[in-house]
Amino acid sequence: MDTLADFPRQKLPALLQAMPKAELHVHIEGTLEPELIFALARRNGVTLRYADVQALRAAYAFTDLQSFLDIYYAGASVLLQEQDFFDMAMAYFRRAAVDRIVHAELFFDPQTHTARGVPMQTIMGGLVRACTAARSELGISSALILCFLRHLSEADAFDALEQALPYRQHFIGVGLDSSERGHPPDKFARVFAQCREHGLHIVAHAGEEGPAQYIRDALDLLGAQRIDHGVRCVEDPELVRRLARERIPLTVCPLSNVKLKVFDTLAEHNLPALLDAGLCVTLNSDDPAYFGGYLNQNFLETFAALPQLTADHAAQLARNSFDASFVAEATKGRWRDELARVIAQVAKEP
Ligand code: ADE
Ligand code: ZN
Repeated sequence: MDTLADFPRQKLPALLQAMPKAELHVHIEGTLEPELIFALARRNGVTLRYADVQALRAAYAFTDLQSFLDIYYAGASVLLQEQDFFDMAMAYFRRAAVDRIVHAELFFDPQTHTARGVPMQTIMGGLVRACTAARSELGISSALILCFLRHLSEADAFDALEQALPYRQHFIGVGLDSSERGHPPDKFARVFAQCREHGLHIVAHAGEEGPAQYIRDALDLLGAQRIDHGVRCVEDPELVRRLARERIPLTVCPLSNVKLKVFDTLAEHNLPALLDAGLCVTLNSDDPAYFGGYLNQNFLETFAALPQLTADHAAQLARNSFDASFVAEATKGRWRDELARVIAQVAKEP
């Protein structure tokens, strides 16, 4: 039902910003702003390839996923001490509070750091401390999802899992990220089977640059409960019907998709088609420091570029973000109630 049919379009930005929401697809290393990269480089005596913040920002002109990942991994090289991981995550949480994010499920890439000799304890210690502080200082609930780098081997993934298991109580799930093309999910089927035995939630990047078949494989071979990106599902109508039927969420990242040339412009993004197909889509920022904006910027620019998106779609996306999160049903219910309260309040404001 079109419950917000009379909602005036000029109030849409206010609604998008005020809605409580969950963010389910953000790589914490992708929140490292150039200023913080240089500050940490100075603090840790790391030499960067770029002369200054401006030169680094100027390099953020990506042609595809790989061209981004090369710079993203270079940026993460400044992270050495526990305090660095804490500072990075706290900076994200402060930004998230501004965007009315009440819950965030953060991806982290431990292999990027352990490969440079940073102990798992350092990574986990800083991130967990930040999650605790986000709760007490900002009222934001959060959880960590460990991502395996798919350009590395199955043996490397097993090794990462073994190093992470002593911290099992500090992460709720595992994901699969990095270079998609040429690295299909089946390479990691055995690692994910082991993760499922440990009771971990399963998500996977699929159908960002890779084909719809990778989405099918993430579901069937990895046991994925959510698909990160997944926008190429539309190339397989039977798959779209399955995603709708099984209510598998897609964590879509519009600004990322344009920056990495998955779509030429936001106006050409297939978000309206995904919503029309009845899919449980959520909006997310992916790597906001690199892609031109945090979560509300994704909402604002996407709704501005796609006039067919309405206040009902906005409310649906926020509700979906709670539905698709890995939290208790009672908590989801509280956030849905708060969402309804905020929508009613914005609707009656002049
Ligand atoms: N790692 C960080 N951002 C990513 C993305 N958009 N796709 C795959 N791997 C990533
Ligand atoms: Zn991602």
